[in-house]
Amino acid sequence: MKILVLTAHPDLNKSRINRSWFEAFAETDDITVLDLTRVGGPTMSFNVEEQQQLLLSHDRIVFQFPFYWYSAPPVLKAWQDQVLTYGFAYGPGGKKLVGRELVLAISTGGPEDSYHA
Ligand SMILES: Cc1cc2nc3c(=O)[nH]c(=O)nc-3n(C[C@H](O)[C@H](O)[C@H](O)COP(=O)(O)O)c2cc1C
Repeated sequence: MKILVLTAHPDLNKSRINRSWFEAFAETDDITVLDLTRVGGPTMSFNVEEQQQLLLSHDRIVFQFPFYWYSAPPVLKAWQDQVLTYGFAYGPGGKKLVGRELVLAISTGGPEDSYHA
């Protein structure tokens, strides 16, 4: 199985958890790992065709990020808005990702009891 990990951390140099995951993934066969902050640059702009081809050539897509205000850092939203386009991920003909697995790998800082009912 080919795995694509999209790492969405604003600054991996200042990260403890996501950087260690990123480095471990980078050393693992069959895993492609992208630092979205580096790829998108300061304007968070993505080459849509290139990103879509990457999605199509992998079986499992992993969104890896630190939990920020019960959500994801903005670079992941920018990537989603630009890459998951009409006719590709939704709308007529937009079933290109059907059959792929989606995994969320999320680090948190809150204590365990923040995540109880
Ligand atoms: C802006 C911001 C918002 C955060 N919001 C949450 C949150 O809602 N829940 C939580 O458990 N931790 C929250 N945290 C803590 C981060 O999830 C935690 O620092 C991060 O997962 C650690 O990973 P890292 O070492 O890769 O940076 C927040 C941290 C920041 C900077």
